[in-house]
Amino acid sequence: MGNGFLGNDASFMLDVVVCALVAVVPALLFSIYLVKFKRNYLLHRNLQVTLGVVLLLTVAAFEVDLQVVHGGWENIVKNARGEDWVNTPAFAQVRNVLWIHLVFAISTPLMWAFTIILALKRFPSPPTPGEHSGLHKKLGWISAIDITLTSVTGLLFYYLAFIAAG
Ligand code: HEM
Repeated sequence: MGNGFLGNDASFMLDVVVCALVAVVPALLFSIYLVKFKRNYLLHRNLQVTLGVVLLLTVAAFEVDLQVVHGGWENIVKNARGEDWVNTPAFAQVRNVLWIHLVFAISTPLMWAFTIILALKRFPSPPTPGEHSGLHKKLGWISAIDITLTSVTGLLFYYLAFIAAG
C-alpha cells in the first residue's frame, strides 16, 4: 500500500501533496514579488488563478484517494509504522498536529476562493489597482499567510508521521 515515491512508505497522493505544499510557497512569494515590486498585475492574476485551480484539483484527488481508497489517514500510518504505533505518545502528537493543520487546511481554500472570486469581479481585465485594492491587499495577505501555515503544519505532520523516529 505504501506506494509513495519519497521513500517514506506514505501513499502516492500524500507524496504528491507534500511536493505541492513545498512548491506553493516560493510560487506565491514570486507572485507577490511580481505585483508589489514589478507591478505586473496580469501575471500575478494568472499565476494566482492557476495556483488556485491546481491546488484545488490536487487536494480533491488527495481527499478521494485518502478517504475512499485508503479508508483514512490512520491506515496509511499503520501501514508505514505498524499496527501498534497508534498506541504510542508519538501517534498522539501526530494527531494533535493534524488537528492544527486542519484549521488552516480548511480555511485556506475558503479564503482563496473568496479572494480570487472577488478580485476577478472587482478588478478590471487586465487588472489594475483601483477601489478594490485596499480590501484585496488584506485578503491577499491573509490568504498567503493561511496557505503558508497550511504548508508548514502539513509538512510537520508528514515529518512526524512518516520520517521522525519514535
Ligand atoms: C488567492 C489569490 C491571491 C492572493 C493570495 C493575492 C495576493 C496579493 C497580495 C498579498 C497583494 C498585495 C501586495 C502588496 O502588499 O503590495 C496583491 C495585490 C494585487 N493583486 Fe492579488 N492576490 C490574489 C489574486 C488576485 C487576482 C485573481 C487578481 C486579479 C483579478 C489580483 C490582482 C491584484 C492587484 C491588481 C494587486 C495590486 C493592488 C494595488 O497595489 O493597489 N490578485 N495580491
